[in-house]
Parts: sequence; C-alpha cells; structure tokens
Amino acid sequence: MRIAVLGATGLVGRTMLGLLEECAWADGEPVALASARSAGFELPWRGGVVTCRAVDAASFNGVDVALFSAGGGPSREWAPVAAKAGAVVIDNSSAWRQDPAIPLVVPEINGALVDGMRSGIIANPNCSTIQVAQAVAPLERAWGLEEVHVTTFQAVSGAGQKAVAELARQNAGEVMGAPVFPRAIARNVIPSIGAALDDGSFEEEAKVLRELRKILGRDEGLKVTCTAVRVPVVNAHAAAVRVVCRQPVTPGEAAAAMAAWPGLEVAAAPHDYATPREIDGRRTVHVGRLRQDPNDPRALLCWVVADNLLKGAAWNAVQIAARIVEGRSR
Ligand SMILES: NC(=O)c1ccc[n+]([C@@H]2O[C@H](COP(=O)([O-])OP(=O)(O)OC[C@H]3O[C@@H](n4cnc5c(N)ncnc54)[C@H](OP(=O)(O)O)[C@@H]3O)[C@@H](O)[C@H]2O)c1
Repeated sequence: MRIAVLGATGLVGRTMLGLLEECAWADGEPVALASARSAGFELPWRGGVVTCRAVDAASFNGVDVALFSAGGGPSREWAPVAAKAGAVVIDNSSAWRQDPAIPLVVPEINGALVDGMRSGIIANPNCSTIQVAQAVAPLERAWGLEEVHVTTFQAVSGAGQKAVAELARQNAGEVMGAPVFPRAIARNVIPSIGAALDDGSFEEEAKVLRELRKILGRDEGLKVTCTAVRVPVVNAHAAAVRVVCRQPVTPGEAAAAMAAWPGLEVAAAPHDYATPREIDGRRTVHVGRLRQDPNDPRALLCWVVADNLLKGAAWNAVQIAARIVEGRSR
C-alpha cells in the first residue's frame, strides 16, 4: 500500500510516520508532504530518512491512503484532489467533520462506516472528543445516554509545535511575543480554545458537542455541554466527565462495560486515576475516578485521560487506515 502523509513535519504528522514504521502494510517509502517551507527536509523512516516534498497536484498519484494533518485550509484544498486521484483521505482537521456525507470515525465505535471504501474522505474527530467518545460509548451501548457534560484540561501539544515551543519559552522566563495562546500559558490555565462564538462558547466546545453527537449517531436528543481549558501540560489531554444514563447504573456496572470496550482501560479502584504524564506515549484511553453522582442514581462522574497526539490524532487515523487496508486485501 502506498501511503502519503500531508503535514509530515508537524507534531501529528511525525507521530503518524512513527506509527506507520511499524505497519507491514505501509510498504516502500511514504510520500512525505508539507508546505514549500519544508521541501527537502529529512524525516526519520525505518532507520533511514524520507525527504519531504511540497504538496502539489501530482502528489497523490498512485497513493492508496493519504493521512492529512496540515490544518483546515490545506485539507479543503487537497483532500478532494487526493480523493479524485483514487486515495482514501483520513483527515485530522475540522474541515470535513460536519459534512453529512463524510464519516467521522473512531474505529472502536463506528469503524464499520468505512468498510468497503475505495476512495474518498474520512474525518478524524477532534482530540478531546475522541477520548470522551471512547469513555462514554460503552455506556451509550449498554444503557443509553441522556446527557454528557465535559470539562477538558488540554495539553499545549494539541495546538501544534509552535505552542509547545511557546510553553517552553515561557517556562524559561522569556518575554512573550506573537503568542499562540491568548494569555500566558506557563503557570496558568486558559478557559478558551478556538474562536469565540456568538452563544458565549468557544469553537473547541462546540466541536465536542457536535462531534460527540455525530460519532454516537445521536444527532438530536443527547444533551452535551463542554468547557474546554488549556493547561500548561506538554502532552496528553484530561477531561472531567459527568454522564446521565437513561436508567440507574452503578459504578461497578459501568466499569465492567468500559473494561470490556476495546482501546479503553479502567482504573482498578474508584480512587485510582491516571495523569497526562503517565498516559503520554500510550494508545489507549484511561478512565479513573469512576463514581456515582450522589444526586442522581442515573449519573456517573469520571476522569478520562489520553495522548492527544496518539489516540487523539495519529493512532486513530492509522487504525482507520489499517481497517481500509484490511478491507482492500479481502
Ligand atoms: N496536535 C494535536 O494533538 C491534534 C489532534 C487532533 C487534530 N489535530 C489537527 O492536526 C493538524 C496538524 O496539527 P499539528 O499539531 O501537527 O500542527 P503542527 O505541529 O503545527 O504541524 C502543522 C503541519 O502542517 C503543515 N502545513 C501547514 N500549512 C501547510 C500548507 N499550506 N500546505 C501544506 N502543509 C502545511 C506544516 O508544514 P510546514 O512545516 O511546511 O509548515 C506541518 O507539517 C491540525 O489540523 C490540527 O487541528 C491536531
């Protein structure tokens, strides 16, 4: 299978290349693509290097699967070109996620949507949404959900490599300049991610609402709220989640359903939890602090942590690619 990675020099793109190195189906060198700024840049590949090229109209000829992580503008421009050239595009930006014709996929939840796909575009969900969706999907499947309320604690790597550099500079005491974030992020937390919307929310919060409903197939009728907060953590997002089910559910029953769900790990005891530092580098989503809401026997509270560059982006995309490849070889 010939694979292309657009955004290969970015945090997500480099993580994708690292994961693809392990995939036997990614034969030959991947086509590493980015902007003209990165043309000629060498990236590690299976003990050697792969040279990055500037994306252009011919980049996707002969490509079977194209993993995109270059932002919304390049995705809108190049995903249709790649799909027309015969590739399946798996896109990490928000450009296509709300298009009703485009599947929004977490393989453990709705991977069947991509089965049989030979070319076209698949959207990878927002990083915070993926980990929350993974945590609540077994509850939706077993008991049905009425409400999901989320407060995120999002690492700076979720905003790309410039954001990671900004936190490092501020931690080193350097004066701010051309900041990625709207306020200082070192020794601080910032309750705004993305553009401000008319209803008082920010774009990241709206993404969690819209995308969670689409992934769970609950376009209407599922109440979702989100407050998205940037924290001075380098990598891995956390989320405090409250769910209301359609009927009473104990933490023990919920833990059993979650533990049986692929890609989900559940803390062994109610007071146990994982932190972003511990989850950094792992592919699974971790649920801890699972407990009953004392106000409502149908409601549960939990703490959800995942590596935003892996399950929140690159690993989810590579899992989708693996499913496409498997389908083609059948
Ligand atoms: N970081 C995360 O945890 C995360 C999670 C989910 C989704 N995403 C999404 O994934 C995408 C990439 O995120 P990231 O964190 O990897 O960002 P990043 O570290 O800033 O990397 C951006 C990448 O996009 C490339 N690029 C930018 N403009 C381009 C253009 N006009 N044409 C071609 N390539 C271009 C850059 O290439 P140059 O080096 O040549 O500029 C670089 O390779 C974004 O859409 C982001 O929203 C990120």
